[in-house]
Amino acid sequence: MPNLNAILAKSDENQPAALDRLCELLRIKSISADPTFADECVQAADWLVDQLNDIGFRASRRDTDGHPMVVAHSGGEGRHILFYGHYDVQPEDPVELWSSPPFEPEVRDGKLFARGSVDDKGQLYVHAKALEAWIRATGSCPVNVVFLIEGEEEVGSPNVAAAVQEHLDDLRCDAVVVSDTTMFAPGLPTLTNGLRGLAYLQVDIQGPNRDLHSGMFGGAVVNPAETLARMLTACRDENGRITIPGFYDDVREVPAHEREDWTRLPFSDDEYRASLGVDALMPSDHSTLECLWAQPTFDVNGLLSGFTGEGSKTVLPATAMAKVSMRLVADQDPERIADAFEAYMSEIAPAGVSVSITRMHGGKPWSASRDHPVLKAAARALERGFGAETVFIREGGSIPLVATLEELFGVPTVMMGFGLPDENAHAPDENLDVGNFFNGIASAAYFFEELASNRE
Ligand code: BES
Ligand code: MN
Ligand code: MN
Repeated sequence: MPNLNAILAKSDENQPAALDRLCELLRIKSISADPTFADECVQAADWLVDQLNDIGFRASRRDTDGHPMVVAHSGGEGRHILFYGHYDVQPEDPVELWSSPPFEPEVRDGKLFARGSVDDKGQLYVHAKALEAWIRATGSCPVNVVFLIEGEEEVGSPNVAAAVQEHLDDLRCDAVVVSDTTMFAPGLPTLTNGLRGLAYLQVDIQGPNRDLHSGMFGGAVVNPAETLARMLTACRDENGRITIPGFYDDVREVPAHEREDWTRLPFSDDEYRASLGVDALMPSDHSTLECLWAQPTFDVNGLLSGFTGEGSKTVLPATAMAKVSMRLVADQDPERIADAFEAYMSEIAPAGVSVSITRMHGGKPWSASRDHPVLKAAARALERGFGAETVFIREGGSIPLVATLEELFGVPTVMMGFGLPDENAHAPDENLDVGNFFNGIASAAYFFEELASNRE
């Protein structure tokens, strides 16, 4: 086995260059939600293809029915590892709340500020740099790696599953590795063994055939705004339980030892509340971490109806609209949950309005055992990279393709996140801790060594 210190020294020498290179990728406005930026998504994919080819991979752009993905092979001996990440980013708005322009990366106080720095360009680049160090120092890759980097994760990966099916032979692997999650706290290397799924829907209520004078018609005509509010609040009872019939049917219990481990994580409800500026949390029988990681949710993401301008206007609006999402836990199925929600909405809709529901997107939840040897190898590698013991957590966010890849390949997924919870993913001033970026590169390099040296 070659000397890993020499390999890492090689990567340390190149630290400024690694950051400069990452900044090139961060300057590309690859916003997947906005069709105006479709060319930029192609540009980001092409940039990755060039970069991975330079490192010594065989990389190519694979077009899909949406934004393209990138597939790159290292070739070589050893275990087959599929690294999955995404180059697409969330829209930057509200742009006026950024301290520096979102697509002009800038380092301040050891943090790299830019849209996509932590989610997920910076994190995926960690693995490219770790493998580059190996290849430059030894001439080859210690494991057989394939990169799958997609451009539609932030919009629910609508076309990727089909595209992956098309390239199945190219993507076969013994384990999947993802870096698109967070560390539980600074200095605490973290593996994530659960993610929530998602069902996202839009509800439209149509009342009378036009907006009405509320004095001339109010009291006789059913009000769509009020109706929608009633229908939404009917989805949860006063104890915080979601009331959609059948909603909890497939919710799997958290293993007792896992729940027990969570009580040892450094977390306080008081600090959590204070950090958010709220004086109470939602009522629940479960701990806060369990509510975030292992319980499903019902959230109204947006509401629109009637007059919302300056001053007042006496109107009975003709329509009302809400965007609703439900985070799901194993073994809830997004389609079945969307069916249950639709059925409940039609059951409780009063006469006098019509309700129409549009399914926006969905993703399956994912959770896994923490015992697989490949996870033990990852835990050791993170310990070496960060100099502290690795903790296991779950997270409340969703990465729809993870469950799909597990179904397709039936292999374990290693989720090593290098982000931090306060790095403003999806928000203004998104940033990535530069120290975590470099410790991440070292950890990834150690991980490939652990896998190659066949310790388990
Ligand atoms: N990287 C996140 C998922 C994530 C966030 C995992 C926080 C763990 C902690 C991912 O890019 C994301 O934002 N996913 C979306 C998925 C949705 C658009 C289908 C999410 O969770 O809202
Ligand atoms: Mn992400
Ligand atoms: Mn995201």
